[in-house]
Amino acid sequence: MTTKINKLKERVQEAKLGGGQKRIDRQHQQGKLTARERVEYLLDEGSFEEMGILVTHRTTDFGMEKQQFFGDGVVTGYGTIDGRLVYIFAQDFTVFGGSLSETHAEKICKVMDMAVKVGAPVIGLNDSGGARIQEGVRSLGGYADIFYRNVQASGVIPQISAIMGPCAGGAVYSPAMTDFTIMVENTSYMFVTGPNVVKTVTNEEVTAEELGGANTHATKSGVTHLTSENDVQCLEDIKTLLSFMPQNNQELTKQLAYDLGDEYRQELSDIVPENPNKPYDMRKVIDGIVDRDSFFEIHKDYAENIVVGFARLAGRSIGIVANQPMSLAGVLGVQSSKKAARFTRFCDCFNIPLLVLVDVPGFLPGTDQEWNAIITNGAKLLYAFSEATVPRISVITRKAYGGAYDVMNSKHIGADMNFAWPNAEIAVMGAKGASEIIFKKEIAEAEDHDAKLAEKEAEYAKKFANPYRAARRGFIDEVILPEETRRKLIKAFAMLEGKKIDGPKRKHGNIPL
Ligand code: HXC
Repeated sequence: MTTKINKLKERVQEAKLGGGQKRIDRQHQQGKLTARERVEYLLDEGSFEEMGILVTHRTTDFGMEKQQFFGDGVVTGYGTIDGRLVYIFAQDFTVFGGSLSETHAEKICKVMDMAVKVGAPVIGLNDSGGARIQEGVRSLGGYADIFYRNVQASGVIPQISAIMGPCAGGAVYSPAMTDFTIMVENTSYMFVTGPNVVKTVTNEEVTAEELGGANTHATKSGVTHLTSENDVQCLEDIKTLLSFMPQNNQELTKQLAYDLGDEYRQELSDIVPENPNKPYDMRKVIDGIVDRDSFFEIHKDYAENIVVGFARLAGRSIGIVANQPMSLAGVLGVQSSKKAARFTRFCDCFNIPLLVLVDVPGFLPGTDQEWNAIITNGAKLLYAFSEATVPRISVITRKAYGGAYDVMNSKHIGADMNFAWPNAEIAVMGAKGASEIIFKKEIAEAEDHDAKLAEKEAEYAKKFANPYRAARRGFIDEVILPEETRRKLIKAFAMLEGKKIDGPKRKHGNIPL
């Protein structure tokens, strides 16, 4: 009996070494941690319980029966992060390049099923050469089994994907269907077809890094929500990200303790310049409103004309969507609308209240925008806000013009509380454009056209470039001073905590995709 136990211990020890010391050393030389090191780092000390450590593949082709590694290239199980239960899988590149076999997929599916049953987040650490080539369609089927579960779990439990090595071919679609993707700089890439295929089909010469590295997906495609300098930072980012989310869609994120006393933030009064055409950094407004150093930005380098991210307000987790006047004057465009819509829908799935900061001169004009379907894409954001049932509050810090006024969480599409700062401008369009249209005749007949235009512009601006008309109609609940914004928001979100909306009975809506 003792020999048997010792043998099992030895096998487990062997399994812990993955595909052998040489391969582990190679992983380290590349600046990567091994799967088990990643799991150990991410989870609370001593909390990891592994499932399926003795699983091996069932392939007998290509002499595979002689090559068996316990765990079959993926470490799966559960543990805790800051005391919260999470399920985890970490692909082990030291075993067949982390490639996905039928049994490897079964192990991932097992933790995903359990996570849904119990109601806890799933974290996937991806580092894989893709489908186990020796297994053919069984491996493809395994991927599809995971994809299916990604969709079943969507909106039920948070799903986070870290890309910590290769992720190519159809394999990319699992992370793409989870809520957040984080890529490690320089050691990870994602693409559907790699540089060689690209060269053959399109004759383009491109490196793996250019085609699908972290920087590319953070800036050009928006496929990744975050990038991290190295494995350790990536695991730290996962922890931070998770801290803003509840365990599942039936729960609220735990509210942290909050000390009263810093509700007034004088610095907010100096951020918006007097000249309405001058840019300013909306991140300063965000920092001025939320708990100190709590803002965690998502999609930071993608579609920079809108800022999205999580923060804490009096200890409460909130999602923020904010126009960014520093980039393209904060207009809404194709990419920014998609970015904000996706984030809004995540927050709505998981009961995270939304704060929307508005300074928007309208939609971005041009053939590029129209031909890339700003109509359909702008509609995504309009749809996402309109369907969101979480507490929703807007603050107009400066401009709210045209259709973008409606889209940016206006009262008309279901926002709960709408505030505006005293210098807010809410109108169909800017004073110059509006005057040129409605006073066209008068301006044409005037001796001095320019002087007449300036006079009419001033007249129009006086009438509309303020928040009071909207406030008189109740479209704005209160015009507030910038420095009291934090206090107002803390009170309003607390007041809205019991908000409950039962929508009409339907299978699901049909968001314009
Ligand atoms: C089986 C694989 C493998 C795979 C790598 N290995 N990928 N074994 N199936 N898909 C093995 C290698 O044989 C090698 O074994 C070990 O893993 C490490 O691989 P290396 O090539 O030495 O590593 P590296 O030089 O770092 O290159 C990594 C790589 C390369 C770029 C990922 O291995 C590669 O191109 N692999 C094939 C990728 C691929 O085409 N996959 C199928 C994609 S299609 P030894 O024993 O020598 O250490 C796909 C479809 C999914 O995935 C569809 C879902 C719907």
